[in-house]
Amino acid sequence: MRQLGVNIDHVATVRQARRTVEPDPVWAAVEAELGGADQITVHLRGDRRHIQDRDLHLLKQTVNVRLNLECSLEPDMLAIACQVRPDQVCLVPEKREEVTTEGGLDIVGQQERVAQAIRQLNDHGIEVSLFIDPCAVQIDASRAVGAQAVELHTGAYANACLDDRAGLSTRTGRQAAAELLIINHAAQHTLDRGLRLNAGHGLTYRNVQPVAAIPGMEELNIGHSIISRALFCGLRQAVADMKSLIQTAAL
Ligand code: PXP
Repeated sequence: MRQLGVNIDHVATVRQARRTVEPDPVWAAVEAELGGADQITVHLRGDRRHIQDRDLHLLKQTVNVRLNLECSLEPDMLAIACQVRPDQVCLVPEKREEVTTEGGLDIVGQQERVAQAIRQLNDHGIEVSLFIDPCAVQIDASRAVGAQAVELHTGAYANACLDDRAGLSTRTGRQAAAELLIINHAAQHTLDRGLRLNAGHGLTYRNVQPVAAIPGMEELNIGHSIISRALFCGLRQAVADMKSLIQTAAL
């Protein structure tokens, strides 16, 4: 069955806007679990713009489902990951000026560095997923460096869905279908290489089902759309709604 990883970074973003104590992402994790989350996902960024070290340590102690830590390849981040020991680390690229993770991690261009990071994390009992663009060379390189899973970047598909909706696409209605085809091919390539198949970024209540329906899809990590809906209906309900979409898509 498809697993829903709920990314709670944006709860911490609201707290950090005032540098205060609320809303607490640890509370959010409890609500997400009650709504049916299979995994709690957080991104500890070098600039600590949302999730703080304190959050990660408390989440490790309190989360009852899987804990997935997104982080960069920087040595200090890997050291924190090895100390906290989440169930999974998803290695992501990180640029200070970006609003959110913009592209996939380049595995091809830094194979030895990624392989070393994976060995270090695996030695601490942590599974490693690599957040990559949906293309064959990055998948092959992910396999070569010893990753257990890849998370295919769905951002281009998500943006195409928005463009199609807004009538901005030059080939209205077809752009998202083209991006979806790319993800489908990459998904098959991932499974053929024996890697676990995850996906995420920009997924919403409107665009999630075709991705959730891809055969072999194990885990979807979704943040912004769920937290946005939670403002109006509460996080427990928002998570339950997304979980239901994912499960029915795969039937
Ligand atoms: N997966 C990864 C690797 C990410 O970096 C992010 C964004 O933090 C997400 C999933 C969730 O993206 P969104 O907030 O657009 O759902």
